[in-house]
Amino acid sequence: MIFYQPGRHKEQGFSHDPFKAVVSPRPIGWISTVDAEGRSNLAPYSFFNAMAFLPPVVVFGTGTHPDGTPKDSQRNVEATGEFVCNIVSEALKEQMNKTSAHLPHGEDEMSFAELEGAPSKLVKPLRVAAAPVALECRYLQTVKLPAWNEPAGNYAIFGEVIGVHVNPEIVENGLIDVTRYRPVSRLGYFDYSTVTEVFQMFRPD
Ligand SMILES: Cc1cc2nc3c(=O)[nH]c(=O)nc-3n(C[C@H](O)[C@H](O)[C@H](O)COP(=O)(O)O)c2cc1C
Repeated sequence: MIFYQPGRHKEQGFSHDPFKAVVSPRPIGWISTVDAEGRSNLAPYSFFNAMAFLPPVVVFGTGTHPDGTPKDSQRNVEATGEFVCNIVSEALKEQMNKTSAHLPHGEDEMSFAELEGAPSKLVKPLRVAAAPVALECRYLQTVKLPAWNEPAGNYAIFGEVIGVHVNPEIVENGLIDVTRYRPVSRLGYFDYSTVTEVFQMFRPD
């Protein structure tokens, strides 16, 4: 086995830190928020996952800007207590990527990527109308994570899912068929993947 400690991957011949390539595929939380003035914001986060089921809880991990100021998603979630996590279908991959642009605070990536917003039911941020699934979330807490590049920081932001929108076209006999929208996931480097095949296994007990 090759062994390296984080930050020392080059000593083992890795040109890039393999961490994100090996913790993969990672789902992408496409986070829509509003700021304190109600202006919309949208950005993808691949440090994202579900953490609990009863009730459902999701988390996304965010770095800050190099000077330590929070990215808009963190700033808005903490200011308003709400966010929507949109799920990215293969059809939306280019627009998802476009919304990662660093626009000035208050400028809306949803219109920048020519996406339509649709109203949420229980929270203020719009959901991405074309997303196959959108999770309306109530902010729970922020956990500060270790940071090597201070004053830049790393934070994990937790939210409880309080409402779920599902496009009926991806439902078959009461079950979600992910192959109908092919969720986009993040691998390492500039690599992405989608789900094209599904198999089943049943637990031993
Ligand atoms: C597929 C993808 C995944 C990303 N995942 C993360 C992430 O997990 N954490 C993070 O801080 N930035 C991530 N980024 C970068 C942010 O999307 C980018 O910094 C964005 O401008 C932040 O927007 P905001 O300031 O509106 O929140 C990702 C970008 C892409 C394209």
